[in-house]
Amino acid sequence: MTATANGTADPAVTKVSILGSESIIVGNNYTHYLVRDLLKSSPASTYIIITDTNVAKYHLTPLRDALVAAIDEAVQPTRAKVLTFVIPPGESVKTRETKALIEDWGLEQKCTRDTTFIALGGGVIGDMIGFVAATYMRGAGFVQIPTTLLAMVDSSIGGKTAVDTPHGKNLIGAFYQPKRIFIDLQYLRTLPKREFVNGLAEVIKTAAIWVEEDFDLLENHPEKILGLSGSAGTAKMQHKSDHWQNLTDLEQAKIRKRNPSFCVSSSAPPV
Ligand SMILES: NC(=O)c1ccc[n+]([C@@H]2O[C@H](COP(=O)([O-])OP(=O)(O)OC[C@H]3O[C@@H](n4cnc5c(N)ncnc54)[C@H](O)[C@@H]3O)[C@@H](O)[C@H]2O)c1
Repeated sequence: MTATANGTADPAVTKVSILGSESIIVGNNYTHYLVRDLLKSSPASTYIIITDTNVAKYHLTPLRDALVAAIDEAVQPTRAKVLTFVIPPGESVKTRETKALIEDWGLEQKCTRDTTFIALGGGVIGDMIGFVAATYMRGAGFVQIPTTLLAMVDSSIGGKTAVDTPHGKNLIGAFYQPKRIFIDLQYLRTLPKREFVNGLAEVIKTAAIWVEEDFDLLENHPEKILGLSGSAGTAKMQHKSDHWQNLTDLEQAKIRKRNPSFCVSSSAPPV
């Protein structure tokens, strides 16, 4: 934990640099830090949190309330608005039609170009909302809060955004880097085991190619890794901080190895 100017304690986070900017922030259960960093790194007149119904059930209200509280705390001449938009879950909604629906709703709400879109969800939400942000008024603010393991270690990194078409997956899209990627391991607690295992495939592949000690960890302690997701993870998490640390290390290695120019740097909180 790190003490801040106002006397509160911030959880330790690790910042990972991508394309010369420390835009990836990894930690566990750091919503308070996240919203303050968001206001500082992505100033906006409106924040729109977009998620799906599965994620909204657990995570939308705490994030929205924390963001509203942080806006109230930060004395600014014009108070930013916080809006939310919830869509059904699954690949079938990652379409041009859903994208248009979100865009038209944003225009009806009179959201201008200095809006920040917050993608709270798995790869489906991240890919589609990234594309919305890339084209909304020729480019609005965009941050990712990935909530699946696959999104944390793969789809939220690299700036690839897209929607599917009847001709195939991810055929229409853009490269659009998020201002921030907030990887908070607490979201894995509610992730169904099946989805967790889906993301683990990418982690195993990377470890097998690049990081021998991580591959050994995966091979020799599958029960510890699998215990991090779903209801089992929720109950056991308080007692398993060492396993969460292993996963944090694994994720950082994954991000670093993906691009040799990535590097881990400071853990200082925003001032
Ligand atoms: N941009 C890229 O580089 C890239 C890379 C790989 C994959 N992708 C894309 O990612 C998508 C797949 O992503 P995914 O596997 O994350 O699927 P997803 O986004 O559909 O999420 C999987 C399921 O888990 C639920 N969920 C998500 N987080 C949850 C949480 N914390 N608690 C409870 N439920 C939760 C979702 O509602 C959904 O039902 C595909 O569209 C694929 O094309 C993109």
